[in-house]
Amino acid sequence: MQLIHDVAQLRETVRAWKRAGQQVGLVPTMGNLHDGHISLVDQAREQAQRLVATVFVNPLQFGEGEDYQTYPRTLEADAERLRGHGVDVLFAPGVEAMYPSGLGSATRIVPPPELTEKLCGLARPGHFTGVATVVAKLLNLVQPDVAVFGKKDFQQLQVIRRMVLDLNLPVRVHGCETVREADGLAMSSRNAYLSAEERRQAPALGQTLRWVAEQLIAGADRSILEREAVARLKQAGLPAEYVSVLRATDLSPPRPEDAELVVLAAVRLGRARLIDNREVRLRH
Ligand code: PAF
Repeated sequence: MQLIHDVAQLRETVRAWKRAGQQVGLVPTMGNLHDGHISLVDQAREQAQRLVATVFVNPLQFGEGEDYQTYPRTLEADAERLRGHGVDVLFAPGVEAMYPSGLGSATRIVPPPELTEKLCGLARPGHFTGVATVVAKLLNLVQPDVAVFGKKDFQQLQVIRRMVLDLNLPVRVHGCETVREADGLAMSSRNAYLSAEERRQAPALGQTLRWVAEQLIAGADRSILEREAVARLKQAGLPAEYVSVLRATDLSPPRPEDAELVVLAAVRLGRARLIDNREVRLRH
């Protein structure tokens, strides 16, 4: 595995693969890799002969007062974890390489408000513009055949799918199932912010979403379930920012005939803001 920091060197390496007719996969990350990331890498590997993983803590997607400065940066350990998973290049650029005109005046990709002015987008204004912008740049740099993202960040995945569609980007976006700890907590780098007591409380998030999913399948009303889920989370010590049942394909309010739904939630727990979701398929 080659560690590359430089944009020109990355382009040159990928160009040689493409000349040889090899399919290229991309796994963008912000590092501090856990088993969830490794499953993205393994799934990307199955779909391409060459694989680029990226580690870049993207300042553009962090808001004021968020954890950009303290976000765990563990490049050496990340490189170690990736060895043995078929990654050809680990691309870890600096901020200047990704934003050569400076952050303030960088050209941005602004996803449509119907996808961003809800859920996490309400608490994190500008976040999805930052995500779409950096993902567009990584797609441009690597020009992969397939790019792989986790479904834990469900709204992010929809934003990226929409950007790829709207900008006619020649890449297949593959969403991977969320990897969970033994007690059901979705893996996330931000779980490291939890104290021992908070870590014991945290699985209530996934459990509540599973309960909502089961109740939806049993025919319960989604608005009542959303309210009841907020109450359950509060009782478990997890104040909810939102619990929403939406249409899985475009995150719009579901119509009675919709079969593919998703339950999404964000909670605050100490220093951490945790998100999770469950997809639900209804049989009408
Ligand atoms: O999901 C993440 O880790 C980030 O949002 C991503 C997609 C790597 C963009 O910075």
